[in-house]
Amino acid sequence: MLLTDLQSWGFHTLPQSTNVTNNEAVKAVADPSAVVDLAQLEARIAGCTLCPLSAQRKNIVFGAGDHHAALVFVGEAPGREEDQQGFPFVGEAGQLLDKILYAMKMTRDEVYICNVIKCRPPSNRDPQPEEINACEPFLQQQLKLIKPRVIVALGRFAAQTLLQTKTPISRLRGSWHEYQGIPLMPTFHPAYLLRNPSGKRDVWEDMKQVLSRLSGR
Ligand code: URA
Repeated sequence: MLLTDLQSWGFHTLPQSTNVTNNEAVKAVADPSAVVDLAQLEARIAGCTLCPLSAQRKNIVFGAGDHHAALVFVGEAPGREEDQQGFPFVGEAGQLLDKILYAMKMTRDEVYICNVIKCRPPSNRDPQPEEINACEPFLQQQLKLIKPRVIVALGRFAAQTLLQTKTPISRLRGSWHEYQGIPLMPTFHPAYLLRNPSGKRDVWEDMKQVLSRLSGR
Protein backbone atom coordinates (compact mmCIF):
# COMPACT_ATOMS: atom_id res chain seq x y z
CA MET A 1 0.00 0.00 0.00
CA LEU A 2 1.31 3.44 -0.89
CA LEU A 3 1.73 6.21 1.62
CA THR A 4 -0.53 8.41 -0.50
CA ASP A 5 -3.30 5.76 -0.19
CA LEU A 6 -3.04 5.88 3.58
CA GLN A 7 -3.12 9.66 3.54
CA SER A 8 -6.20 9.65 1.35
CA TRP A 9 -7.86 7.47 4.00
CA GLY A 10 -7.13 10.07 6.65
CA PHE A 11 -3.94 8.60 8.16
CA HIS A 12 -1.62 11.56 8.51
CA THR A 13 0.81 9.90 10.88
CA LEU A 14 1.72 6.28 10.41
CA PRO A 15 0.94 3.90 13.25
CA GLN A 16 4.09 3.14 15.25
CA SER A 17 5.03 -0.51 15.31
CA THR A 18 7.39 -1.19 18.20
CA ASN A 19 8.17 -4.51 16.54
CA VAL A 20 9.89 -3.02 13.54
CA THR A 21 12.90 -1.87 15.52
CA ASN A 22 12.58 -4.48 18.21
CA ASN A 23 12.97 -7.19 15.60
CA GLU A 24 16.46 -5.88 15.03
CA ALA A 25 17.25 -6.29 18.73
CA VAL A 26 15.78 -9.79 18.68
CA LYS A 27 17.88 -10.65 15.63
CA ALA A 28 21.00 -9.32 17.34
CA VAL A 29 20.30 -11.63 20.28
CA ALA A 30 19.37 -14.64 18.15
CA ASP A 31 22.27 -14.43 15.72
CA PRO A 32 25.22 -12.67 17.38
CA SER A 33 27.61 -13.74 14.61
CA ALA A 34 25.66 -11.59 12.13
CA VAL A 35 26.69 -8.43 13.99
CA VAL A 36 29.96 -7.21 12.52
CA ASP A 37 30.86 -4.17 14.62
CA LEU A 38 29.79 -1.98 17.52
CA ALA A 39 28.12 0.60 15.29
CA GLN A 40 25.93 -2.09 13.78
CA LEU A 41 25.09 -3.53 17.19
CA GLU A 42 24.18 -0.07 18.49
CA ALA A 43 21.93 0.50 15.47
CA ARG A 44 20.24 -2.86 16.05
CA ILE A 45 19.32 -2.15 19.64
CA ALA A 46 17.98 1.34 18.92
CA GLY A 47 14.29 1.12 19.75
CA CYS A 48 14.75 -2.10 21.77
CA THR A 49 11.70 -3.00 23.86
CA LEU A 50 12.93 -6.34 25.16
CA CYS A 51 12.36 -5.27 28.77
CA PRO A 52 10.04 -2.78 30.49
CA LEU A 53 12.83 -0.24 31.08
CA SER A 54 12.31 0.89 27.48
CA ALA A 55 9.01 2.52 28.46
CA GLN A 56 10.59 5.24 30.59
CA ARG A 57 14.01 5.79 29.08
CA LYS A 58 15.00 8.94 27.24
CA ASN A 59 18.05 7.37 25.62
CA ILE A 60 19.64 3.97 25.32
CA VAL A 61 23.13 4.28 26.81
CA PHE A 62 25.05 1.90 24.61
CA GLY A 63 28.65 2.71 25.55
CA ALA A 64 31.46 5.05 24.53
CA GLY A 65 35.16 5.09 23.78
CA ASP A 66 37.66 3.23 21.63
CA HIS A 67 35.98 0.35 19.79
CA HIS A 68 39.27 -1.57 19.98
CA ALA A 69 40.26 -0.58 23.51
CA ALA A 70 42.68 -2.74 25.49
CA LEU A 71 40.75 -1.85 28.64
CA VAL A 72 36.96 -1.93 29.10
CA PHE A 73 35.12 -0.65 32.18
CA VAL A 74 31.70 -2.20 32.78
CA GLY A 75 29.32 -0.41 35.14
CA GLU A 76 25.81 -1.18 36.32
CA ALA A 77 23.18 0.91 34.56
CA PRO A 78 22.61 4.49 33.41
CA GLY A 79 21.49 7.04 35.97
CA ARG A 80 19.51 10.22 35.37
CA GLU A 81 22.31 12.19 33.69
CA GLU A 82 23.31 9.25 31.51
CA ASP A 83 19.69 8.69 30.46
CA GLN A 84 19.39 12.35 29.52
CA GLN A 85 22.65 12.55 27.59
CA GLY A 86 22.86 9.02 26.17
CA PHE A 87 26.45 8.47 27.38
CA PRO A 88 27.79 6.33 30.23
CA PHE A 89 29.18 7.76 33.45
CA VAL A 90 28.54 11.44 32.78
CA GLY A 91 27.10 12.18 36.25
CA GLU A 92 28.76 12.41 39.65
CA ALA A 93 30.02 8.81 39.63
CA GLY A 94 31.44 9.51 36.17
CA GLN A 95 33.46 12.44 37.50
CA LEU A 96 35.05 10.08 39.98
CA LEU A 97 35.71 7.56 37.20
CA ASP A 98 37.44 10.39 35.29
CA LYS A 99 39.69 10.95 38.32
CA ILE A 100 40.50 7.23 38.46
CA LEU A 101 41.37 7.32 34.74
CA TYR A 102 43.49 10.46 35.26
CA ALA A 103 45.41 8.70 38.04
CA MET A 104 45.95 5.81 35.61
CA LYS A 105 47.26 8.35 33.05
CA MET A 106 44.44 7.42 30.70
CA THR A 107 41.60 9.24 28.97
CA ARG A 108 38.07 8.17 28.11
CA ASP A 109 39.03 8.05 24.43
CA GLU A 110 41.59 5.31 25.07
CA VAL A 111 39.26 2.97 26.94
CA TYR A 112 35.71 1.74 26.40
CA ILE A 113 33.01 2.35 29.01
CA CYS A 114 29.64 0.62 29.08
CA ASN A 115 27.10 -0.90 31.44
CA VAL A 116 25.38 -4.22 32.05
CA ILE A 117 22.00 -2.53 31.51
CA LYS A 118 21.59 -0.04 28.68
CA CYS A 119 18.44 1.73 29.95
CA ARG A 120 17.90 3.58 33.21
CA PRO A 121 16.03 1.75 35.98
CA PRO A 122 13.42 4.12 37.48
CA SER A 123 14.65 6.10 40.50
CA ASN A 124 18.03 4.38 40.04
CA ARG A 125 16.75 1.20 41.65
CA ASP A 126 18.74 -2.02 41.31
CA PRO A 127 18.43 -3.76 37.93
CA GLN A 128 16.03 -6.74 38.10
CA PRO A 129 17.14 -10.23 36.99
CA GLU A 130 14.82 -10.18 33.95
CA GLU A 131 16.25 -6.82 32.85
CA ILE A 132 19.79 -8.15 33.20
CA ASN A 133 18.82 -11.30 31.26
CA ALA A 134 17.31 -9.24 28.45
CA CYS A 135 20.29 -6.89 28.13
CA GLU A 136 23.23 -9.19 28.89
CA PRO A 137 23.58 -10.54 25.33
CA PHE A 138 24.37 -7.01 24.15
CA LEU A 139 27.17 -6.67 26.70
CA GLN A 140 28.48 -10.09 25.69
CA GLN A 141 28.53 -8.99 22.06
CA GLN A 142 30.22 -5.69 22.88
CA LEU A 143 33.03 -7.53 24.67
CA LYS A 144 33.32 -10.08 21.87
CA LEU A 145 33.66 -7.31 19.27
CA ILE A 146 36.08 -5.14 21.29
CA LYS A 147 38.28 -8.06 22.43
CA PRO A 148 39.88 -6.10 25.28
CA ARG A 149 43.01 -7.35 27.04
CA VAL A 150 41.55 -6.49 30.44
CA ILE A 151 38.04 -5.87 31.81
CA VAL A 152 37.31 -3.86 34.96
CA ALA A 153 33.94 -4.71 36.49
CA LEU A 154 32.71 -1.69 38.44
CA GLY A 155 30.62 -2.89 41.35
CA ARG A 156 28.47 -5.82 42.30
CA PHE A 157 26.17 -6.05 39.26
CA ALA A 158 28.93 -5.95 36.66
CA ALA A 159 31.15 -8.40 38.54
CA GLN A 160 28.38 -10.84 39.46
CA THR A 161 26.84 -10.76 35.97
CA LEU A 162 30.09 -11.26 34.08
CA LEU A 163 31.40 -13.90 36.48
CA GLN A 164 28.04 -15.64 36.95
CA THR A 165 28.41 -15.63 40.72
CA LYS A 166 26.63 -14.35 43.81
CA THR A 167 29.87 -13.74 45.72
CA PRO A 168 29.87 -10.23 47.25
CA ILE A 169 31.99 -7.56 45.54
CA SER A 170 33.99 -7.11 48.75
CA ARG A 171 35.27 -10.68 48.29
CA LEU A 172 35.63 -10.56 44.52
CA ARG A 173 37.63 -7.34 44.27
CA GLY A 174 41.38 -7.18 44.40
CA SER A 175 42.11 -10.44 42.63
CA TRP A 176 42.06 -11.59 39.03
CA HIS A 177 39.14 -13.50 37.56
CA GLU A 178 38.38 -14.47 33.98
CA TYR A 179 35.58 -13.66 31.57
CA GLN A 180 35.73 -15.77 28.37
CA GLY A 181 39.51 -16.02 28.72
CA ILE A 182 39.93 -12.26 29.36
CA PRO A 183 41.46 -11.20 32.70
CA LEU A 184 38.80 -9.40 34.74
CA MET A 185 39.39 -7.23 37.81
CA PRO A 186 36.32 -6.52 39.93
CA THR A 187 36.48 -3.34 41.96
CA PHE A 188 34.16 -1.04 43.89
CA HIS A 189 31.69 1.07 41.88
CA PRO A 190 32.49 4.83 41.82
CA ALA A 191 29.01 5.55 43.27
CA TYR A 192 29.93 3.36 46.27
CA LEU A 193 33.15 5.36 46.63
CA LEU A 194 31.16 8.60 46.77
CA ARG A 195 29.41 7.19 49.86
CA ASN A 196 32.46 5.36 51.22
CA PRO A 197 35.58 7.34 50.31
CA SER A 198 37.78 5.02 52.36
CA GLY A 199 37.28 2.41 49.59
CA LYS A 200 39.33 4.57 47.18
CA ARG A 201 42.55 3.10 48.50
CA ASP A 202 41.38 -0.42 47.55
CA VAL A 203 40.29 0.73 44.11
CA TRP A 204 43.69 2.30 43.51
CA GLU A 205 45.37 -0.99 44.49
CA ASP A 206 43.10 -2.78 41.99
CA MET A 207 43.89 -0.25 39.25
CA LYS A 208 47.63 -0.65 39.85
CA GLN A 209 47.19 -4.37 39.17
CA VAL A 210 45.28 -3.48 35.99
CA LEU A 211 48.09 -1.17 34.83
CA SER A 212 50.72 -3.84 35.47
CA ARG A 213 48.70 -6.39 33.55
CA LEU A 214 48.28 -3.99 30.63
CA SER A 215 51.97 -3.17 30.52
CA GLY A 216 52.76 -6.90 30.46
CA ARG A 217 54.38 -6.97 33.91
N1 URA B 1 26.52 4.23 37.16
C1 URA B 1 26.72 3.23 36.31
O1 URA B 1 26.85 2.08 36.69
N2 URA B 1 26.76 3.51 35.01
C2 URA B 1 26.65 4.74 34.54
O2 URA B 1 26.72 4.91 33.34
C3 URA B 1 26.47 5.77 35.47
C4 URA B 1 26.40 5.51 36.77
